[in-house]
Amino acid sequence: MKVGVIGCGTMGSGIAQLAATANHEVVVFDANESALISSKEKLAKVMARLVEKGKYSSEEANVIQSRISYVNGLRELSDCGLVIEAIIEDLGIKSKVFKELEGFVSDECIIASNTSSLSITSLAASIEKSDRFIGIHFFNPAPLMRLVEVIPAVQTNIRVLEKTKTTIANWRKVVVQVKDTPGFIVNKVARPFYGEALRIYEEGIADTATIDWAMKDLAGFRMGPFELMDFIGNDVNYAVTETVFKAFYYDSRYKPAFAQKRLAEAGYLGRKSGRGYYDYSEGAILPEPNKDEELGRKIVDRVLYMLINEAADTLHLNIASAEDIDLAMTNGVNYPKGLLSWANEIGIEKVVKGLDELFNEYHEERYRCSPLLRKLADEGRGFDV
Ligand SMILES: NC(=O)c1ccc[n+]([C@@H]2O[C@H](COP(=O)([O-])OP(=O)(O)OC[C@H]3O[C@@H](n4cnc5c(N)ncnc54)[C@H](O)[C@@H]3O)[C@@H](O)[C@H]2O)c1
Repeated sequence: MKVGVIGCGTMGSGIAQLAATANHEVVVFDANESALISSKEKLAKVMARLVEKGKYSSEEANVIQSRISYVNGLRELSDCGLVIEAIIEDLGIKSKVFKELEGFVSDECIIASNTSSLSITSLAASIEKSDRFIGIHFFNPAPLMRLVEVIPAVQTNIRVLEKTKTTIANWRKVVVQVKDTPGFIVNKVARPFYGEALRIYEEGIADTATIDWAMKDLAGFRMGPFELMDFIGNDVNYAVTETVFKAFYYDSRYKPAFAQKRLAEAGYLGRKSGRGYYDYSEGAILPEPNKDEELGRKIVDRVLYMLINEAADTLHLNIASAEDIDLAMTNGVNYPKGLLSWANEIGIEKVVKGLDELFNEYHEERYRCSPLLRKLADEGRGFDV
């Protein structure tokens, strides 16, 4: 099956590499001629590095690259069996491209979007034969990150869903299925990792270095929340939070933090601008964490209980299966354990008690315990994972 990729920036280039590595002929289209040239050049560099590392022989690397053709018209995608779009995150622009594409491809062609934040259902509605439309959400960098979220729209045909899942699994990815909900699994469930850490920091309970230390050394996360926000970029991370907050009709659980908004406004974007929560300039002295175990435990419990609550509610609302929710967080953002398995390990009753204590202290909706957690605690059961 020939695979089409529309847009060859960060994501499209990675998706094209992935599909070509999985033996597909790939046709890449971008509206910007220089993006096509730079994508091709970037791939040559990546493949040369992989040859150096011994991952491929130079013949294999050449074959992979030769499977990709770079074209400057959508019409050239006409014989593709699957087209994945990875252009600018704009509903109007994407819809227009899909409409035009539908005029060229066959009725059997699956049309997919890699959008992170738009409704798959609204994108599907932009074409006539909307039952062949689906969301395929890759993570950056696409060739390396193992997780792919597959999101059927309301209109998506079950055969299209199954074929998409099989195709992406054959690309050696961990595929999870998600209901068309803002943030899908990862960008929804991960919100408290940033949001609750920011809240603890804003309240002055601990500084950023101490929160990062606790989440890494005591809980086993690879990066602390503030290091990670600096890595992602405070502008980008803030924008995702705000999008999810608005999309969930201003549910206070996803409320963005002023602390982060101000950093973004100041241009303290993180690593990419040389300064964020931390100073990345040469010779800068990094703040020392207060390694108080009792404080550290309090921080970990609070962030972790909020993460578990979000994962539990995602299951409660049938957004994804328990297994897929755990797979998504361990493969998409490298969490040390799946959150639902982690809840079983801690004890559901203890998590419910921790959440209720937060709710009693603040009287904020944000800390409401998921009905599913409470039910499991009442029945003395855990999650089936
Ligand atoms: N960057 C990430 O971490 C990430 C992760 C997952 C999903 N996404 C999603 O993937 C999509 C692309 O993101 P990106 O980071 O690769 O963007 P990018 O800016 O790196 O690349 C976008 C490319 O699309 C091209 N383009 C824009 N309008 C076009 C049009 N009308 N027709 C054809 N080409 C067009 C641009 O020339 C550019 O080369 C977005 O929907 C984004 O939400 C991004």
